[in-house]
Amino acid sequence: MAALTGTGSVSANDWTNVLAEVPLFAGLPKRHLKAIAKLARIQRVAAYSEIVRAGDPGDAFYLILDGTVTVRPPRRRAVTLGSGAYFGELALITDAPRSATVVADGEEVLVARIGSKGFAKLLENEPKVSVRLLRTLAGRLQASESSASH
Ligand code: CMP
Repeated sequence: MAALTGTGSVSANDWTNVLAEVPLFAGLPKRHLKAIAKLARIQRVAAYSEIVRAGDPGDAFYLILDGTVTVRPPRRRAVTLGSGAYFGELALITDAPRSATVVADGEEVLVARIGSKGFAKLLENEPKVSVRLLRTLAGRLQASESSASH
């Protein structure tokens, strides 16, 4: 997918339009996207910075708007995620520690961060989003089982 922010810089006003481009939120009514935008904070993450660390408690969910990150589970293969992908849902849904360390790749990454309370609201209010998250979750669990290296 092309960078979601490729057409210009993100201001508070066009933020809802940026969310509308994300597959996780595809097909949601504009007023729902506006409500979701209110739950999120845009953050710029410097190249090579750690965004979450394996073993830490989960406090937020992250949606990648631009750039790529590498997910490094402690005993499994690394995975690269790019624009439109997300991470950090696992610890919030399972209440377990972070399952992997996630690091920005060689360029600045733009993310939308939704704190744990906001994420709980999102799940409650948006059944479509919840189902999409569940599908991804199942895929990630399957991938982590089939790529176990020990
Ligand atoms: P969480 O455990 O909260 O923090 C680390 C995140 O990395 C995790 O949520 C997932 O979002 C992501 N993650 C873990 N394993 C994989 C995987 N195999 N593929 C893609 N993403 C993963």
